[in-house]
Amino acid sequence: MNQKKIIFSGIKPSGDLHLGNYLGAISQWVELQDKYKCLFCVVNYHAITVRQDPAILKQRTKDIVKIYLASGINSQKANIFLQSDVYEHTELAWILNCTSTRMSDLNLMTQYKDKSKNGENNVSVGLFDYPVLMASDILLYNTDIVPVGDDQVQHVELCRDLAKRFNHDYAPTFKLPEVMIRKQGARIMSLNNPDNKMSKSDDGDSGCIYLNDDLDTVRKKIMKSVTDSGNEVKYDLLEKPAVSNLMTIYHLLTGESYKDIKNTYSGKGYGDFKKGLADVVVKFLGEFQAKLNSISDAQVEKVLESGATCAKVLAEETLKKVKERVGII
Ligand code: AMP
Ligand code: TRP
Repeated sequence: MNQKKIIFSGIKPSGDLHLGNYLGAISQWVELQDKYKCLFCVVNYHAITVRQDPAILKQRTKDIVKIYLASGINSQKANIFLQSDVYEHTELAWILNCTSTRMSDLNLMTQYKDKSKNGENNVSVGLFDYPVLMASDILLYNTDIVPVGDDQVQHVELCRDLAKRFNHDYAPTFKLPEVMIRKQGARIMSLNNPDNKMSKSDDGDSGCIYLNDDLDTVRKKIMKSVTDSGNEVKYDLLEKPAVSNLMTIYHLLTGESYKDIKNTYSGKGYGDFKKGLADVVVKFLGEFQAKLNSISDAQVEKVLESGATCAKVLAEETLKKVKERVGII
């Protein structure tokens, strides 16, 4: 038995993707595709848990496929597909809602609590239920490993709990997946505030570097980023959380160690370091955007068509087993 382990991950098209998505998730996936059987999904049913403009949602869904390809995910090695092309995802979510999920499980989810802080009246049931759909995404493919940023760890743990409960209450059916997070980069922080993660809805846009930002804007955002007291460039999360975050971005994009970065900027201060970082990010994004622009819509269609066909075969098999266990004919 030397079957490759299965990897599943996804990103929702609810906003433009940023450097946190790339460094925390996608760049890690690229490294995994040679060793594992990988499925990378654009999870568009997750996006509609909050209101989306339909035309923009359609466009973004395809743009994320282009971002996967431009990042180096090879559709010959990994399976790239849309959640909405494989209806088994939503069907399994309904079954798990009924058989294995308690209100009390979902009430514990911190992401839901954060997003519904301003009152539950305007929050959709879908947003509350979102981790069950995520569990279905993962469980349909007998996934072994789920590579994500650290904000998703709690959701993967819930997925394991639901799988265990189903296996216990019916019969062994689902494999229990493990979460995988990067040692560095699992949580890229906002450039404006090292206490907040870089995110699509970050305090204004200036703390967030979008993959499609124009390069002048990127340079300005980096030059305006907050730093810590003192002037020494060194990695120290407690004393220098802002500089450490910038160093992590530098480290991940260049491969240089923290020690080498520290030595390069020793005695030079934060200003020079930020200029250096801006050069690194602008070079990376310039090349990335050139690749992105070279990918055609026709290429995306082709990738998604074959992706959905392969994914469906696996998903159908799991769902058939689940329905059989539950007694749905
Ligand atoms: P989302 O944009 O919420 O669909 O997230 C897509 C992927 O990017 C997930 O694996 C997240 O954990 C990851 N991610 C999002 N924001 C960050 C961040 N600031 N740092 C690292 N990873 C992130
Ligand atoms: N919930 C994830 C996020 O917001 C996206 C996601 C949906 C996902 N389904 C998944 C990630 C399955 C990994 C596996 O980032």
